[in-house]
Amino acid sequence: MAEIICVIGNKGGTGKTTISHMLGEGLGLNGYRAAVVLTDTGRALLSRENRRYLTADARTPGQLSGIVGKLHALKGWIGVIDGGGSRTEHDRRLADLASLLLLPFRDSPEDVRTLRQDLERFPDALALPSQWPTNPWQREAAQRLLDEVVADWPDRVLDPVPSVSSSKLLLFETLPPTLPTPLHNACRQLAAQALDRLGLEFFPERIA
Ligand SMILES: Nc1ncnc2c1ncn2[C@@H]1O[C@H](COP(=O)(O)OP(=O)(O)OP(=O)(O)O)[C@@H](O)[C@H]1O
Ligand SMILES: [Mg+2]
Repeated sequence: MAEIICVIGNKGGTGKTTISHMLGEGLGLNGYRAAVVLTDTGRALLSRENRRYLTADARTPGQLSGIVGKLHALKGWIGVIDGGGSRTEHDRRLADLASLLLLPFRDSPEDVRTLRQDLERFPDALALPSQWPTNPWQREAAQRLLDEVVADWPDRVLDPVPSVSSSKLLLFETLPPTLPTPLHNACRQLAAQALDRLGLEFFPERIA
């Protein structure tokens, strides 16, 4: 039976779509077959060209049940479902079918406030710091915010996904034939964390 990772959260713009595609690419780099599933009615399905994963359209509830059914019948596959944001009912449905539930949040007090509510609401979900600052002065303030979350939920916070400007390439309709190394590394590292939490094999030694 396939594993299903759902990327959700009751706030817009936290990086759900970017993280879903980074996971797809990173799982591909780790030798897994993955499908990134679109549920957001406001977005278009992206082409599969040059991606190490499939893209699937589940913008209607019927399509979503169909894809989840198909995934469950496929051994060794990993489905990554990109939740739409601010759709609590929909998130609850996705939470029920997930083997791994991720809640991305950025380094803002507002994101952390919503994250805290979502961590209470979804007791199995993991917090995923997203678009995390890499320059020293910004990182220090972000780390303080992160430390407060870790203090309250020590085992439920993953390592940050760094801010990588080239991550926007993954959201283009068609990917360029090659991706920059920093993006590859961030994708691989994120996928390794997800695989670790799923109890699946991963290859951390390949991270540059
Ligand atoms: N790791 C990252 N590094 C740099 N920019 C990022 C990163 N993650 C997300 N972004 C940028 O942040 C913005 C929001 O990201 P994204 O669309 O993935 O969020 P979302 O949670 O899917 O939003 P929505 O709630 O609208 O669906 C985009 O412009 C994206 O390029
Ligand atoms: Mg999105």
